[in-house]
Amino acid sequence: MAPRRPDPPDVLLALPPDAPLDEVAQAARHCTNCPLYRNATMTVFGEGPAPAPLMLVGEQPGDKEDLQGHPFVGPAGRVLDRALADAGVDRGAAYVTNAVKHFKWKPAGKVRLHQKPSAGEVGACRPWLVAEIERVDPRVLVVMGATAAQSLLGPSFRVTRHRGEWVDHGLDEVAPGARVTATIHPSAVLRSDDRDAAYASLVDDLRFAATALAS
Ligand code: URA
Repeated sequence: MAPRRPDPPDVLLALPPDAPLDEVAQAARHCTNCPLYRNATMTVFGEGPAPAPLMLVGEQPGDKEDLQGHPFVGPAGRVLDRALADAGVDRGAAYVTNAVKHFKWKPAGKVRLHQKPSAGEVGACRPWLVAEIERVDPRVLVVMGATAAQSLLGPSFRVTRHRGEWVDHGLDEVAPGARVTATIHPSAVLRSDDRDAAYASLVDDLRFAATALAS
């Protein structure tokens, strides 16, 4: 039996079903659906045009994103920006968000060390991601890394096996007509022993995603 999905956040349920994206984003600032809000500076919601032809989903805000309140503005964001540019994609035309909207971290001396969100935390945040997808209505949805894949494609999906191809996604109710593809998370480039190869493969996957935007 599939595990039961956590209930949607109360502050999302309180909105009318057709609430616009900016109202959804405002409501997300008050989300307490999992414990992560307690140690985060603020909710980091997605940004970009809605509707948008392209939507990119990462894991969760990092240290810089948590302090500034915007997705992908730190080191991983710089990798993403460069990779999008090299793939011929305008970030300004894409909607960029994360599977989890609060930074999960643990203290390590003076730094805040990133912690992977649990399946429960990913599930608790999923209704926000679904609400974004419904309003952005992308033609192409790019899932970046294992956490975003876990949220949207299920825990058995393997990014390394299925990256750079169209995925049979089962998200038809959420994203009718969207084509879905997966790639590595931009921070995986920074952690790789062979950064050049990892970066080139990220660009290749983004270029592949962009092929469906050209047609
Ligand atoms: N990593 C992510 O997954 N998202 C961000 O916004 C920043 C780093």
